[in-house]
Amino acid sequence: MKLPHPIPYQGSKRNLADKILSYFPLKVNRLFEPFAGSAAITIASAYHCKANHFVINDINEPLINLWDKIINYPEQLINEYHFIWNSQIGREEAYYYEAREIFNNTQKPEYLLFMLAKCVKAAVRYNSNGEFNQSPDKRRLGRTPSNMREDILNVSQLLKNKVTLLSLDYDEVIATASKDDLIYLDPPYQGTGQTGGFRYMQDLKHDDFVLSLFQLNKRNIPFLLSYDGRTGDKHFGKPLPDALNLTKIEIDAGRSSIATLLNRVENTYEALYLSPSLLNQIHFKPQPSFIQTSFKSSKGRERSRNTT
Ligand SMILES: C[S@@+](CC[C@H](N)C(=O)[O-])C[C@H]1O[C@@H](n2cnc3c(N)ncnc32)[C@H](O)[C@@H]1O
Repeated sequence: MKLPHPIPYQGSKRNLADKILSYFPLKVNRLFEPFAGSAAITIASAYHCKANHFVINDINEPLINLWDKIINYPEQLINEYHFIWNSQIGREEAYYYEAREIFNNTQKPEYLLFMLAKCVKAAVRYNSNGEFNQSPDKRRLGRTPSNMREDILNVSQLLKNKVTLLSLDYDEVIATASKDDLIYLDPPYQGTGQTGGFRYMQDLKHDDFVLSLFQLNKRNIPFLLSYDGRTGDKHFGKPLPDALNLTKIEIDAGRSSIATLLNRVENTYEALYLSPSLLNQIHFKPQPSFIQTSFKSSKGRERSRNTT
């Protein structure tokens, strides 16, 4: 089975999943993804048998209803996606706007899946009334029903009976984690609202978020955090307080989603922070200015190299 990824989603960590998973402890009871989006880290973790159970949460309720359908009613969703996708043929643009209206009136998850497959940059975007208002990408039909079918069935197989789905504020969810769990946090990118005109359903209050991280440390809950980054010399994201005692790793993301969001062509380094209790579990000894880069080995396989 190749790593499935049924929900096209701007900002997905799909391409960085292997690097992020390399900092996981050997034994994880529950993996929490409180800012799940397309849940790329959950899927990769289930694929590599990294945890016993998974908690997928996102404030975007229709997205969580879509997850429910993917995991628990895959055949029904495959059938509906096939119908919706084929209905567009010959009148693609007009049909997209009809589908968008149906979604905004009914919140039906199958229409959300179609729009994410078909909209510009797979980017969720809502107006002030909470209506999905992203435009269609006129060059594409969106992922074909047969490709979608495979990804839906594979994710369902990986996660069925192993997942708790929630649509709550992240803080309520992480409050239920314990020491033998692991939390992967990927909050909405900072700064992209102004520069890229990009909005998830909800923005995050930086100070509240920092407070939540202090609480996790106090409770000794291991966590990984994708938070800020840099493109060339330009850093984005408010710095985190030193008192959090996090270990920063920079991952070369190439021309990542953030670079595209900010309309740049340089490589982007995404920061991954490891919490002190995670560091204890994986016995990782950080070096100053630790950067993980990826490169092709002589056999053409991608390997990791650590540089300081
Ligand atoms: C950067 S995206 C996560 C991308 C994800 N890692 C992936 O691989 O697709 C951030 C997500 O956080 C969600 N979100 C925003 N505010 C939230 C909140 N207060 N609580 C929970 N989720 C929230 C957004 O709906 C969005 O899906």
